Amino acid sequence: MTDSILETIGLTKEFRGFVAVSDVSLKVRRGSIHGLIGPNGAGKTTCFNLLTKFLAPTRGQIKYDGRDITGMKPAEVARLGLVRSFQISAVFPHLTVLENVRVALQRQRGGSFDFWRSDSLLRAFDDRAMELLEDVGLTSYARANAGELPYGRKRALEIATTLALDPTMMLLDEPTAGMTHEDVDRIVALVKRVSVGRTVLLVEHNLKVVSGLCDTITVLARGSVLAEGDYAAVSRNPDVIAAYLGTEATAEGAPAHV
Ligand SMILES: Nc1ncnc2c1ncn2[C@@H]1O[C@H](COP(=O)(O)OP(=O)(O)O)[C@@H](O)[C@H]1O
Ligand SMILES: [Mg+2]
Repeated sequence: MTDSILETIGLTKEFRGFVAVSDVSLKVRRGSIHGLIGPNGAGKTTCFNLLTKFLAPTRGQIKYDGRDITGMKPAEVARLGLVRSFQISAVFPHLTVLENVRVALQRQRGGSFDFWRSDSLLRAFDDRAMELLEDVGLTSYARANAGELPYGRKRALEIATTLALDPTMMLLDEPTAGMTHEDVDRIVALVKRVSVGRTVLLVEHNLKVVSGLCDTITVLARGSVLAEGDYAAVSRNPDVIAAYLGTEATAEGAPAHV
């Protein structure tokens, strides 16, 4: 077992000549919560999509758990335990919250959609689904239609369906985007709780969100790594401050003391 579970070497993505991600070499320590941050347009989402195999890199290499996964498909890396949080669009709005998690659990078994044939299997899924809902604070919403959940609760459901796959490493893209302060605090606490015994890579725009959460933070700007370290180090880094101030109209995403 190596110290780093995920590693990129010279990862680069060009869109018709425009370099969105440029020569990014990253090491994510096993068991850590690692933040990938940066101002709008820094290349965070592109990087995330490269790591989750939704985009193919122009150049560079991605290694997970010592193995080269650069050419693998999303489903293959998910089977290895590297799982991205589902997009909100992947939540079935007309199913209940409980049913959404049950479907995710059933998928994890990799079987066909015939679970309703067995009452005992169905109950086993329901028990596990309720545990996961409790983990993310959604117990009281179990019977509600997923489509009717408040926004912040939908993100919690998304995390529950991700946890259903029992990931070794979770990749979360801006789990607090568009949330109220109250929801942000709840999701931060939730990510902290579910990260126990796992590795988490969190792509986030807001430095404040990663401040209490991340052991290590990599700052991207214009596609390249600008700085890396703990929150105290990166938030004091003049290059980081300049990058945030140079692109932000407000201080919302900027380091707390700026
Ligand atoms: N499919 C694409 N085609 C062309 N340019 C893209 C594409 N996706 C992203 N970009 C560009 O790459 C840069 C980085 O985008 P993105 O990864 O979304 O940044 P972030 O998530 O940090 O805001 C931006 O300038 C964006 O316009
Ligand atoms: Mg983005």
